[in-house]
Amino acid sequence: MPRTLSAKLTLALIAILGVTGAAWIVLTLFSTRLYQEEVDQSLNAPLAQYIADAYPLIEGGEANQPVLKELFDKLMVINPRIEVYLLDGEGRILAFSAEDGRVKRDVVDMAPIRAWLAGPDMLPLRGDDPRDNAGQKPFTAAVVKDGEAVAGYFYVVLGGEKYDSVAGMVSESLIVRLALFAGGLGLLVALAAGMLSFAWLTRRLRRLTLAVDRFREDGFDSPMKLAGWRRGGDEIDRLGVTVEEMSQRIADQIEQLRQADAARRDMVANISHDLRTPLASLQGYLETLAMKEDSFSAEEKRKYLDLATRQGDRLNRLVTELFELTMLDSTGTRLNFEPFSLPELVQDVTQKFQHLAERRNMTIALDMPASAPFVRADIGLIERVLENLIENAIKYTPEGGKISLSLVPVPDGIEARVADTGPGIPEADRDRIFERFYRVEKSRVDAPEGAGLGLAIVRRILQLHDSQIVVEGTADQGAAFSFRLPFAA
Ligand SMILES: Nc1ncnc2c1ncn2[C@@H]1O[C@H](COP(=O)(O)OP(=O)(O)O)[C@@H](O)[C@H]1O
Ligand SMILES: [Mg+2]
Repeated sequence: MPRTLSAKLTLALIAILGVTGAAWIVLTLFSTRLYQEEVDQSLNAPLAQYIADAYPLIEGGEANQPVLKELFDKLMVINPRIEVYLLDGEGRILAFSAEDGRVKRDVVDMAPIRAWLAGPDMLPLRGDDPRDNAGQKPFTAAVVKDGEAVAGYFYVVLGGEKYDSVAGMVSESLIVRLALFAGGLGLLVALAAGMLSFAWLTRRLRRLTLAVDRFREDGFDSPMKLAGWRRGGDEIDRLGVTVEEMSQRIADQIEQLRQADAARRDMVANISHDLRTPLASLQGYLETLAMKEDSFSAEEKRKYLDLATRQGDRLNRLVTELFELTMLDSTGTRLNFEPFSLPELVQDVTQKFQHLAERRNMTIALDMPASAPFVRADIGLIERVLENLIENAIKYTPEGGKISLSLVPVPDGIEARVADTGPGIPEADRDRIFERFYRVEKSRVDAPEGAGLGLAIVRRILQLHDSQIVVEGTADQGAAFSFRLPFAA
């Protein structure tokens, strides 16, 4: 089987043209022959009657042999393609012009002869050919009279044996040859035109296939570009445009998968790193304690236990935060939306940090309306947001600083804002601090420990609330984080 569509179409066309051509040849030969017979028969129609009138073929009930012999000889010379027979009233052959031995029948069927004498409806009309046991040929016939009585029939078979075979007809008839030649030429022209139009119609499919092949060879990376293809065109155009869009989609998604994969690898690397550090310290402190159990004073033991506990806390925090993030990321997360009072929640959360703030010699200032309409959100998660923001503010602001918490009404909701007087966040890092594990470089060295997950959790929670976290610098160089929640309807 050929590999291209236009070759397949061409094969189909050749098959169709072949069948059509064969049918056409058969029809041409058949109709040419019929036409020839018709012309022959109508031209020669009067012949039998003429002869029957002109010669006394039967006399006294007997065939007139001398007259017949002379007549047969004459006819042979004038038209060798006809054969003549003298029949009796029942169709028995009394005499014939052919050579001896050529005539195979004794009797011919009278029905066609009667039809002929009655005036045929349609030509050619065929009667038995005595030279052939089964064959029939066009003929002309006339009644032979003996005095006034009907004595027999004069039967002239036309056409002889000349066109008995198709091959004979083709080789001898100029018209037939011309017709076959013209027909053959026509078929060749149709074939050529067909092949050209197939090649033309399938050329866009070829281009499309080439483009798809190239796309595959490039590892589905660079999307296909089909210049000038429009969706409004025919099926091939639509197919092309759709495949082009699909290739764009596939390339995008492969790129996304790659990025997600890289992000996942980064994250695993970060997690292992962040877990290993506190684990190693924890192990170190405990090993030292075990080794020096006897030589350490109670105070020293206490110190090492504290250190180990702190590392344990750190580990605990990290694992908890990771778990939280994973929960928030999983698609099945169900948020528990309910109306509640944001000022009350802020009050409660602040209370929890009061002690820590005092220890660091800081003040937490609250600026909010005495009462406000309820907001609608997941109260547990919003509490987490506030905790993470306040904790950061306390953690990253040097001792003696000030933290300001404010609630400001905005259209349809409340904006919460946590500001501090700390070092603030460098412009360049503001976009990135919400990424998981991202910490501002400077803070890695001297700032209190943390895994860099707190703000990622904040952003994710607000995302789930269709809200967003915004970070700005404050007038006194500190950092300010704010977000909005909608009023309950
Ligand atoms: N109030 C703040 N002032 C200054 N820097 C901050 C403040 N809050 C967050 N940051 C910076 O953003 C980083 C990411 O914060 P976060 O996601 O809470 O992680 P973590 O607190 O565990 O380091 C912090 O490491 C810190 O560098
Ligand atoms: Mg934090």
